[in-house]
Amino acid sequence: MAFSQSDATRAVREGAPLDLRGAQVWQGFLDAAAQRALLDDIRAIMRAAPPVQPVTPRGRPMSVCMTAAGRFGWISDRGGYRYVETHPAGAPWPAIPPRVRAIWDAVSGCGRAPECCLVNLYGEGARMGLHQDRDEADFGCPVVSVSLGDAGLFRVGNTTRGGPTESIWLHSGDVVVLGGRARLAHHGVDRIRFKSSQLLEEGGRINLTLRVVT
Ligand code: SIN
Ligand code: FE2
Repeated sequence: MAFSQSDATRAVREGAPLDLRGAQVWQGFLDAAAQRALLDDIRAIMRAAPPVQPVTPRGRPMSVCMTAAGRFGWISDRGGYRYVETHPAGAPWPAIPPRVRAIWDAVSGCGRAPECCLVNLYGEGARMGLHQDRDEADFGCPVVSVSLGDAGLFRVGNTTRGGPTESIWLHSGDVVVLGGRARLAHHGVDRIRFKSSQLLEEGGRINLTLRVVT
């Protein structure tokens, strides 16, 4: 069974998200069939726009590999962090798949369409340090994140650096909304539990983040 808009709407109607310092965590938002369907969409994105391993502006390789769909992708290299309208190899990014868009429509509470679906690929040992998503023009729109594959330990802090943080293990099919007071909260992934999920034969974690950029 493929994931549909009505599945997503039903999940929102029937449940309530957990609150993690203002971040809304929809546990088990996508069932196994919906996760597999989404994986097909992500594999198509990766064929059209092969993932790259970004380097920080200081030249340090990140442990996460990235690609994107939508009008914009997000890259980091010696020139800095930024949204760009083409893959480093030169082609425009593939379109955001309708199934991904349906998740946004169900949980974002935002009238605008997502302009970027960043695809983060976590292999064994990959992590993402605490950061804010602040390269977007309109902080009234949330960032929506979808987790697939191995569990990842997600940490949410504050809008300023430092202070208390709270963590939760995100599992395959979980959806997180960073909006409202959590829109500019620092967040990151401390580690993944490699091969904790059967979704990806090769192991690893995939995270999609949907953003309005302009
Ligand atoms: C991100 O902040 O871009 C990724 C978050 C995640 O992997 O869950
Ligand atoms: Fe982020």
